[in-house]
Amino acid sequence: MNSFEYCCPTEIIFGKDAEKKAGSKIKSYGTDKVLLVYGGGSVKKTGLLDAVCTDLKEQGLEYTVIGGVKPNPVVSFVRDGIKLAQREKVNFVLAVGGGSVIDTAKAIAIGLANNSYDIWDDIWQNKVKPVKTTPMGCILTLAAAGSETSDSAVLTNETTGQKRGLGTVLNRPKVAFMNPELTYSAPRFQIACGIGDILMHTLERYFDKNSDNCMTDFIAEGLLKNVIHFSKDALAKDHDYLSRSEIMYCGSLSHCNLTGLGRRKDFSVHKLGHELSGKFDVAHGASLTTMWAVWARYSYKTDVKRFARLAKVLWDINESDEVKAALGGIDKMEAYFHSIGLPVNFTELGIGVQSNEILEYLADMCTDYGKKTVGNFKPITRQDAINMYKMANH
Ligand code: NZQ
Ligand code: ZN
Repeated sequence: MNSFEYCCPTEIIFGKDAEKKAGSKIKSYGTDKVLLVYGGGSVKKTGLLDAVCTDLKEQGLEYTVIGGVKPNPVVSFVRDGIKLAQREKVNFVLAVGGGSVIDTAKAIAIGLANNSYDIWDDIWQNKVKPVKTTPMGCILTLAAAGSETSDSAVLTNETTGQKRGLGTVLNRPKVAFMNPELTYSAPRFQIACGIGDILMHTLERYFDKNSDNCMTDFIAEGLLKNVIHFSKDALAKDHDYLSRSEIMYCGSLSHCNLTGLGRRKDFSVHKLGHELSGKFDVAHGASLTTMWAVWARYSYKTDVKRFARLAKVLWDINESDEVKAALGGIDKMEAYFHSIGLPVNFTELGIGVQSNEILEYLADMCTDYGKKTVGNFKPITRQDAINMYKMANH
């Protein structure tokens, strides 16, 4: 078994009414003032924001609110949030929403604690490595990005069109309140995108050549099977606690790194997808399913056995010819994405067929103009990226 280091310190409060424990828990950290961060308004519509405010008040906590985080959250909003947090002297940042809101709150928390540096130019560009952050937590409303326990946060610089992540242990929230019922109001497309993203966080860790960690494989395969199984009910039924809770739990497990212990992350599909979101502002999960089968068909020869194994585990493909099995498994996964309403090419993604110039631009952004390769499984060069974008360009 390969060596690994693992620390996921986020306290998870999971289940019905989990969010009602937020005020008392946040108070127990010695908090004086909370910055509440939310998105485009879904939490106002559902009454969740008001309920959280009331809870904080009842606990004697002061708070200030900043709303309007957009999906594919932008750095200018984070800068505004940092200024507000400084002005209001907050000492806890609470996200109420999905991955975009949580990532924004993570960035505000880091920016607030390191206020002599610019959050993008210095910290996000890795010129300065932050060593401290402000305590932050989240009330999750969408099972998707896994940001509620992950060590990363992803921002878009709307001036340059770059969508980039920052990985640091400081990004692990102090606490995550996870009530599956809070996902009932989410649009079906967002639930499907979340399911795509959860699967992808596991698959991006599953494909690592030359690593032999049986237990990690079983965890990963179990998670993938579970998500595929429960996705049917989660999408078909509006208020199905069982499926929503299973998917929510898997969302966190998928990206807290448990499904990748002893393996190197690949994340090529994320990188290819991030450039699509950076350029066209498309939903994260949809950008990933657009690129996954393309990436898989381009890369499967790197480890045919592993693709064949996955085909057997997920889709009961018992083909003795491993190449046929591998390709059959990729076809099945692609058909599954279609079955839950997710795109697998540019037209379905809603961006239409793109010019060669745009494909080259995307590949340049992805590989820093060819200076870097992407991923570890099959390191993706600029030309590989162009080839894959071409395969999806219909
Ligand atoms: O903004 P509001 O009004 O809240 O509406 C949101 C938004 O329009 C809506 N929504 C969420 N929960 C809802 C709801 N609407 C009604 N009822 C609810 N209960 O869904 C829309 C999408 O929300 P968003 O937060 O953008 O979705 P998601 O959770 O998929 O997050 C995506 C972002 O996370 C990043 C992605 O790149 C993307 O920017 N990621 C973050 C990661 C991390 N920090 O570890 C890892 C991921 O790989 C990913 O890159
Ligand atoms: Zn993701």
